[in-house]
Amino acid sequence: MPRRNFLSAGLRAAPGLAILSRLNRAYAAAAPEELAGEEPFWEQIRLAYDRAPGILNFNNGGVAPAPNSVLDEQIRLTRLANRAPAYELWTVLEPQLEAVRKRLAKTWAVDAEEIAITRNATESLEAAELGLELKPGDEVLITNQDYPRMINTWRQRQRRDGIVLKQLSLQVPVRRPEDVVETYRRAITPRTRVLHCCHVINLTGEILPVARLTALARQHGLISIVDGAHAIAHFPFTLAELGCDYYGASLHKWLSAPIGTGVLYVRRPLIEKTWPLFGEWPGEDKNIRKFEEIGTHPAAPHNAILQALDFYDALGYERKAARLQYLKMRWARRLLRQPGARLLAQPGRGHSCGVATIDFPGVDPAWLQDQLWKQDRILVQEITHPEFKGTRVTPNVYNTPAEADRFSAAMERLLAQWPHRKPAAAGSHAG
Ligand SMILES: Cc1ncc(COP(=O)(O)O)c(C=O)c1O
Repeated sequence: MPRRNFLSAGLRAAPGLAILSRLNRAYAAAAPEELAGEEPFWEQIRLAYDRAPGILNFNNGGVAPAPNSVLDEQIRLTRLANRAPAYELWTVLEPQLEAVRKRLAKTWAVDAEEIAITRNATESLEAAELGLELKPGDEVLITNQDYPRMINTWRQRQRRDGIVLKQLSLQVPVRRPEDVVETYRRAITPRTRVLHCCHVINLTGEILPVARLTALARQHGLISIVDGAHAIAHFPFTLAELGCDYYGASLHKWLSAPIGTGVLYVRRPLIEKTWPLFGEWPGEDKNIRKFEEIGTHPAAPHNAILQALDFYDALGYERKAARLQYLKMRWARRLLRQPGARLLAQPGRGHSCGVATIDFPGVDPAWLQDQLWKQDRILVQEITHPEFKGTRVTPNVYNTPAEADRFSAAMERLLAQWPHRKPAAAGSHAG
């Protein structure tokens, strides 16, 4: 069926997962880059989400909404569990977690016995950071652009166990991926035990050369821990190709799974060498499920990860990444015309995808965030770091080029107002 006929065939009335498979048939021949600007396709994707009226959400990086197919399943399972929780929850719903484990493992090409389902990236990464045996004087490498909670966890180990935390500074923007590898390489000493890095830096959107960093770690006998909070389901890759020892990510960011879902990958031989955050059952030290012993909790969020994976599969990994790239270039090209404006990561796919931070010299990003919200009801994230600053912009697949234009126009108007207004007090939380 020709694309236009397909779209006018009454399908607007049926947004959701079913439409994706029909859309895919209609657009089977379209390359991801071609489809990235094909608005009739993306209008249908937009219908799969409930959006807050009057709010333009360009902070999907902090936490993302789930499509309705995911949310509906979460609500259905919540109702089901509530009927007779001691039976429905523990006997019916919890065992279904195994299907989620298998699907996550298949999608990211690792063994299901290496995948634990957690509540967020924090829980996953802290299981690695706090669970590894380290001796006083052992060194851990991390950058000063890693997520503060992950840095603070290592700082706690520094106070408690006497380990040494070395925080490296990375160029902004990174010019060449090999410069990042070199920064880590230069910091390695005979006492180094752990290389901790982000897959995507939440402050700048920079995609780090993780496979090269984990190869460096292996070469020096180091444990590698990768923070994938902003990478999973943002652009295509597999855990197999990254070659890390631990990978922790939230699934409520780019996978758009229910809020309160995450994943932890642990390379199999390391499972028994890692103490879980919550005590394990005797004899379970080699079982990846020991990282899930969190006590009674709702099953609906983690079981509905399956529907989020269905949506991601049906949308297409390359298509999603190409659309995010397209939306980024739509606003970035226009705002880069402002005097001195710069992106904190190069815009090409080798460096960044849907997360981008733009800086305007001398302009306070906290003021921009505050005014964008007050004047235009547009959500973005201000970034303030000792070495750089900027406005982080993260559209999602349900956003449109028209919204990118609305955001750009609002920014142009505000930039023309600065500095005639007083900076507002910052009070942000960069997720
Ligand atoms: C790089 C990075 N790591 C870890 C986290 C923690 O994620 P969560 O709050 O979902 O645990 C975030 C959250 O934004 C992040 O950006």
